[in-house]
Amino acid sequence: MNKIILDNLNYKKTEKVPVWLMRQAGRYMKEYHIVKNKFNSFMEMCKNSDAVTEITLQPIKKFDFDAAIIFSDILLILDAIDINVEFIAGKGPVVENLESLKNIKLLSRKLNSNKVKPCYEAIRNVKKELINKPLIGFSAAPWTLATYYIEGNITKDLSRIKSFSYKNSKEMDFIIELFSYLISQHLINQIEAGVDLIQIFDTHAYQMDYYMHYKYSNIQVKKIAKLVRKKYPNIPIIYYSKTFQFLDKEANNYLNCLSLNSNISLKEQKKYFNGNICLQGNLDPYLLVEGGEYMIKEIKNILLEMESNYFIFNLGHGILPQTPIENVFKLVETVRNFKKKV
Ligand code: CP3
Repeated sequence: MNKIILDNLNYKKTEKVPVWLMRQAGRYMKEYHIVKNKFNSFMEMCKNSDAVTEITLQPIKKFDFDAAIIFSDILLILDAIDINVEFIAGKGPVVENLESLKNIKLLSRKLNSNKVKPCYEAIRNVKKELINKPLIGFSAAPWTLATYYIEGNITKDLSRIKSFSYKNSKEMDFIIELFSYLISQHLINQIEAGVDLIQIFDTHAYQMDYYMHYKYSNIQVKKIAKLVRKKYPNIPIIYYSKTFQFLDKEANNYLNCLSLNSNISLKEQKKYFNGNICLQGNLDPYLLVEGGEYMIKEIKNILLEMESNYFIFNLGHGILPQTPIENVFKLVETVRNFKKKV
């Protein structure tokens, strides 16, 4: 097994810097479109274990990344409690929430196994083929999942979920608790199927105020990590956010790694924990679209800044569909050619 990612997550020094990219399987690859065109919808594809297995492995075969991430979506959990989710080109995800919002207390506490099983089956299949590299499982954090559920079709400023939370704090607390529970179950199920580490995406957490962030993000993420760790004490956990301003000062007791958006300084974040946490990130995905000398310069800057830290090279957010694949090859080559100070 190539353990370079796991070593960094377990605070072991490595000579080289590991690399994988968020959304490494997807629309910038022609191989992805060939599979996607066989399906009527994105969600249907996410529930076909053969397609999921194939798409998960595509970027590994092409770019030789140091880990695979199971191909799925954070919104699969909504679908698995029978809330209709559709991905509309040019509009993003649209969630059918009107009926269930009236009857929040009736939402299911159980993931519909027909809807999540294909994901777990694909994990088992990928693990059979990918014997030499780790596989990443993932989920959203509860606030980020709730933004899609409450907003239906997400607003730029999250005005609907904020208004909902202020007006209906009891219902909001109920939803967040329910989502935390479902997310923990989904993560545990992925670990049981074979993933080697997990990443929790809190993409929209940066839009909360301080108290909301504490209640709906910090407390919940800690709870999820503890629930998962109670069953699987050694599973490495990566947490993605666009702000760490409100981060729990003891987060390194239950998280192995912080995945930083490009708007956060890796250097400053490193100081905050005195090097006692692994960091992941954070090249601007637009620089990967741009390529050339600007991209190389920034990749090298990041590598130099992080050379004495536990570190996984990644983007600050998901890879963009317009990314030229030659830039991805160049990124991997630049990271691979770099030797750390050990
Ligand atoms: O990283 C990977 O390769 C695994 C696959 C993955 C997808 N979504 C596939 C996907 C992962 C890890 C996600 C996570 C996800 N999904 C997040 C958190 C990370 C982030 O990007 O902030 C969020 C917020 C979502 C919700 C989501 N799914 C949105 C807003 C959209 C539409 C906008 C967009 O980027 O297309 C999706 C659709 C989606 N999820 C696609 C893919 C490959 C595009 C579907 C298509 O082919 O049209």
